[in-house]
Amino acid sequence: MSSTLLISATLALALLFVGSDAQLSATFYNSTCPNVTSIVSDVVQQAQESDVRITASLLRLHFHDCFVNGCDGSILLVNSSTIVTEQDALPNINSVRGFDVVDNIKTAVEDSCPGVVSCADILAIAAEISVNLSGGPTWDVLLGRRDSTIANFSGANSDLPAPFDNLTIITLKFSAKGLDTTDLVALSGGHTFGRAQCRNFIGRLYNFSGTGSPDPTLNTTYLATLQQICPENGNLSTLTNLDPITPDTFDNDYYSNLQNEEGLFQSDQELFSTTGASTISIVDSFSSNQTTFFENFASSMINMGNISPLTGTDGEIRSDCKLVNAGLLFTDMK
Ligand code: HEM
Ligand SMILES: *[C@@H]1O[C@H](CO)[C@@H](O)[C@H](O)[C@H]1NC(C)=O
Ligand SMILES: *[C@@H]1O[C@H](CO)[C@@H](O)[C@H](O)[C@H]1NC(C)=O
Ligand SMILES: *[C@@H]1O[C@H](CO)[C@@H](O)[C@H](O)[C@H]1NC(C)=O
Ligand SMILES: *[C@@H]1O[C@H](CO)[C@@H](O)[C@H](O)[C@H]1NC(C)=O
Ligand SMILES: *[C@@H]1O[C@H](CO)[C@@H](O)[C@H](O)[C@H]1NC(C)=O
Ligand SMILES: *[C@@H]1O[C@H](CO)[C@@H](O)[C@H](O)[C@H]1NC(C)=O
Ligand SMILES: *[C@@H]1O[C@H](CO)[C@@H](O)[C@H](O)[C@H]1NC(C)=O
Ligand SMILES: *[C@@H]1O[C@H](CO)[C@@H](O)[C@H](O)[C@H]1NC(C)=O
Ligand SMILES: *[C@@H]1O[C@H](CO)[C@@H](O)[C@H](O)[C@H]1NC(C)=O
Ligand SMILES: *[C@@H]1O[C@H](CO)[C@@H](O)[C@H](O)[C@H]1NC(C)=O
Repeated sequence: MSSTLLISATLALALLFVGSDAQLSATFYNSTCPNVTSIVSDVVQQAQESDVRITASLLRLHFHDCFVNGCDGSILLVNSSTIVTEQDALPNINSVRGFDVVDNIKTAVEDSCPGVVSCADILAIAAEISVNLSGGPTWDVLLGRRDSTIANFSGANSDLPAPFDNLTIITLKFSAKGLDTTDLVALSGGHTFGRAQCRNFIGRLYNFSGTGSPDPTLNTTYLATLQQICPENGNLSTLTNLDPITPDTFDNDYYSNLQNEEGLFQSDQELFSTTGASTISIVDSFSSNQTTFFENFASSMINMGNISPLTGTDGEIRSDCKLVNAGLLFTDMK
């Protein structure tokens, strides 16, 4: 009885002092883990030597973390007695990768600064370093996120965008996270590197939306190439480059690809090919000036990184990114 009262009072006080306006900060670990960025950088660079794709995969992990209950490390949790993993949700299964590298980063960070740096922040730092190591912009990563004690499998299915979503749906899914049209166009530029499976665009190659013909907004030369890579009734897991021009470089080619009708997904090409869309002029401006793209990408990454973080005393600092910390769970107290 009195312990319930005490817990309620403590919770109320905690909410009063660290409530929802807690802010992330670029200097959050200055005194507690000053070297965290170079530790993450070392591990990512090491991984990149044997796997050039890893930087793309790590950027995507941060995105898929942030869009489900905010940037809280929830995507890293595997099945356990209290967790149904987000990794099994449709946008993630057999697709998201890089978890071993995240574990290696966590181990290296714990060696230097035990119990201090959240897994959610590790994803945010790794995303910035990955973009930089691939030739893209740098930005001051805001830090101070804490890790969730829950995952949201159904949220991962409903809130992450699909490659067959049209521009209306994609725009809605971004605005539901507080991201506007410029954020959408800038962040879609993440498709300037990395790989994708045939299953995610084969619907455009042979019989688009039941029309009996390929997607008319697909460049016929590029179409022929993609049909070779992904034959009808072929292996839907076969990988191809998201950016056919510079597959492993973070640059603004993504936008000239869209102008050439060489966007890989429907969700990519609609940014440029939807009649009258406000995204077209943004594509044009990012295509004509890489600096403009880089500046916008950096600020949109900060916007995405600010989606509903847990801060203050909310959540926890996981000791293993895959598992919630052991100890009394709220449900055990009832
Ligand atoms: C706009 C809506 C988006 C949709 C519909 C979408 C969808 C996809 C799909 C289907 C794949 C390929 C997965 C596979 O075949 O296994 C992919 C890959 C990728 N996405 Fe997105 N994505 C979107 C936005 C973003 C954003 C905002 C970022 C980051 C800022 C991003 C970064 C990436 C990267 C880097 C890859 C390659 C990953 C790798 O090679 O491991 N995407 N995306
Ligand atoms: C934190 O460290 C960075 C990099 O060393 C430095 O630029 C910044 O002034 C420091 N901030 C604080 C508040 O100590
Ligand atoms: C920080 O990390 C870098 C790279 O791992 C290392 O060279 C340096 O000695 C470290 N500095 C401190 C203060 O630990
Ligand atoms: C995780 O648990 C869910 C629900 O019990 C189950 O459907 C799924 O197959 C499990 N995934 C893995 C990788 O074990
Ligand atoms: C990556 O970041 C470092 C440090 O900010 C910078 O010196 C370097 O030029 C960046 N790399 C690229 C390709 O921009
Ligand atoms: C899971 O995500 C959905 C969709 O955003 C949301 O409505 C729901 O509240 C989330 N569930 C939990 C437990 O956070
Ligand atoms: C976009 O997709 C939704 C859901 O499939 C559909 O209801 C809507 O009509 C589509 N909008 C356009 C402009 O195609
Ligand atoms: C295309 O798909 C539609 C329905 O999805 C089907 O009715 C039609 O027969 C298909 N056309 C061809 C040429 O395969
Ligand atoms: C399909 O392609 C994937 C990726 O290249 C490969 O791992 C898998 O073994 C292939 N499956 C078959 C049945 O060939
Ligand atoms: C198709 O791609 C080729 C080669 O990139 C390009 O020259 C051509 O202009 C593109 N066609 C369209 C309609 O964009
Ligand atoms: C490209 O954009 C940057 C930043 O917006 C601007 O400073 C620069 O003048 C532009 N370059 C050209 C060639 O227009």
